[in-house]
Amino acid sequence: MFLNDNLKIFSGSSNPSLAIEVCKYLGLPIGGSKISTFPDGEKLIRIEDDVRGRDCFVVQSTCRPQDEHLMELLIYLDCLRRASAKRITAVMPYFGYARQDRKDEGRVPITAKLVANLITTAGADRVLAIDLHAHQLQGFFDIPVDHLTGELVLSRYFRDKKIPDLSVVSPDVGNLKTAARYAGHLNGDLAIVHKKRISGSQVQAGELIGSVEGCNVLMCDDIIATAGTICTAAELVKERGAKKVYVGVTHGVFAPPALERLAKAPIDEIVVTNTIPLTEEAKQIKKIKVLSVAVMLGEAIKRIHRDESISALFGQEAY
Ligand code: R5P
Repeated sequence: MFLNDNLKIFSGSSNPSLAIEVCKYLGLPIGGSKISTFPDGEKLIRIEDDVRGRDCFVVQSTCRPQDEHLMELLIYLDCLRRASAKRITAVMPYFGYARQDRKDEGRVPITAKLVANLITTAGADRVLAIDLHAHQLQGFFDIPVDHLTGELVLSRYFRDKKIPDLSVVSPDVGNLKTAARYAGHLNGDLAIVHKKRISGSQVQAGELIGSVEGCNVLMCDDIIATAGTICTAAELVKERGAKKVYVGVTHGVFAPPALERLAKAPIDEIVVTNTIPLTEEAKQIKKIKVLSVAVMLGEAIKRIHRDESISALFGQEAY
């Protein structure tokens, strides 16, 4: 579909199946590279294709094991820069460490900024990311960031389901704008759960603002980590008379005890995207469905390569 010797797409080890899907969409072979490990555990990456003067993209989600995947990405970037690539884009379908994005108590880091600095220093000229947890994270980089959203893929799926009596529920206040957009696209009502975080994995549902009585509920969020947020909100909406409960989330991080919680939660369907590959354990939970972001990413890569608008993508129904 789009063969161009000047464009090279490489894959780190975090999500090779997504990188392959993107290449298929673009009609390109995946860039040749070899990742090996020295006896002491250090990584060596060797690029096998000629990249001098080429437009190069490295697809790597910094999901678990985060530090390993991040380091691998940094080595890739360094490798491409030293091999004289003309432009290097770090494609990060999932950007780990994003949630530590402010210093809201003493003596804590801002890891999102640290990672942004590392990526830039290692050699990235641009970043292509999906749902960076907070839009302002784009400003943590001093290089261009193209920011896509899983909403495009998820809202099309839910629109095609034609769910009657729909109420879109934001499982916390921070996600309200996103939920309002979903409600707009899907012609649903809007409600919000006011959550209280007790610890990294414990959440207490406060109040439900709005009504879900007799409605089918769609809850949307950027991340499911321990699933405390989504499961607590699901229980609350059920108590308040919701019929079916659907969940649409971009990044299925599924940190323990997320899978146990989700298996028991009163949720009928959990839809995530493939920014992070599903583990074998997660595949056992049949109510988890995965949608692909490959076409959206492929389109974005094509447009970056051709110096075309990315924002024009948001008005499209192509994926
Ligand atoms: C919070 O700001 C995020 O949007 C998610 O709601 C949260 O990170 C999910 O975490 P967990 O699944 O551990 O409750």
